[in-house]
Amino acid sequence: MNAMNAKKILLLPGDGIGPEVVAQAEIVLRALADKGALSPLEISRANIGGAAIDECGSPLPENALRAAKDADAVLLGAVGAPQYDHLPAADKPEKGLLQLRKSLGVFANLRPAICYAQLASASSLRAELVSGLDILIVRELVGGLYFGEPRGVQKSSAGVREGFNTMRYDENEIARVARAAFSAARERNKRLCSADKANVLETSMLWREVVSQIGAKEFPDVALSHLYVDNAAMQLVRAPKQFDVILTENLFGDILSDAAAMLTGSIGMLPSASLNERARGLYEPVHGAAPDIAGKDLANPLAAILSAEMMLRHSLNAANAADKIFAAVQKTLAEGARTADIAADGETSIGCSEMGRRVADNLQ
Ligand code: IPM
Ligand code: MG
Repeated sequence: MNAMNAKKILLLPGDGIGPEVVAQAEIVLRALADKGALSPLEISRANIGGAAIDECGSPLPENALRAAKDADAVLLGAVGAPQYDHLPAADKPEKGLLQLRKSLGVFANLRPAICYAQLASASSLRAELVSGLDILIVRELVGGLYFGEPRGVQKSSAGVREGFNTMRYDENEIARVARAAFSAARERNKRLCSADKANVLETSMLWREVVSQIGAKEFPDVALSHLYVDNAAMQLVRAPKQFDVILTENLFGDILSDAAAMLTGSIGMLPSASLNERARGLYEPVHGAAPDIAGKDLANPLAAILSAEMMLRHSLNAANAADKIFAAVQKTLAEGARTADIAADGETSIGCSEMGRRVADNLQ
């Protein structure tokens, strides 16, 4: 194949453990291409977050944004570092990530939470509650409180400072993410639970109405249910296997997906895909920058590697190659390879680079 057919992948390693885990995902992708399981890749990289602030003073430099828009898919590590905690919200590393999500229009954030049989004992819940768990959280990613205007901190007329944010969704924004969630459910076990706060919030009342309409009109084959988000959080830790796909708005999804992460044993295992209408995507591990273990070769690269797996599946039309990554991860875990976060008490653990190498070696 000639370079015209090469898929363009942009790596945004970012901060903390981001560069280490992205490096392992890159090794796995290149190994697949070397084995001929993947058409040629054109891999480039740019800075985001704190790394970009250090480079040029902005958490999302123009060249990074341009390259991201130009790429077939973007694989990001993590953003955020304690030395930037004092900056105003608009200048923080996290702002770079939020701007990137917004600029790419990646409204549908898919966060699968799979508990691999080999890791059931690493969960904080009893193994029988989580063993075999396979749920998908679909989080709206470019609206709600994260982006709603007006926002800010101002002085009230009484001279008291007040902070305010706006939760706002229009019906089109609700409908498009609902369709993404229904479509995903249709490919799985055909059950969708929408989590909202319709007993209190107008936004949620509209959310519930629109989701119900789309379900009735376009996805009658998918069983739709609704839960208030507080109850959904409780059900997630009470009996997580009752769920198939959970649909929710941005902030609720941020919170529920961290809770779901713990069910699987480690947030170090969880990938995510964020898609726009054209299936152009941003792929990121759900975990953050973890500055406490950064640079020590201790991080778990599996979330980044599995994010690359989702990238092949959703944006690069390479489901076969994606299956190979998934199988290699399963095999590596079955062989007993464990980074520190997923090692049971007394079990020996391996480093980030060793885990990446073992997965690459196990590709068929
Ligand atoms: C996530 C993270 C981000 C979010 C932060 C880093 C801005 O927590 O992807 O879940 O809140 O969306
Ligand atoms: Mg989060």
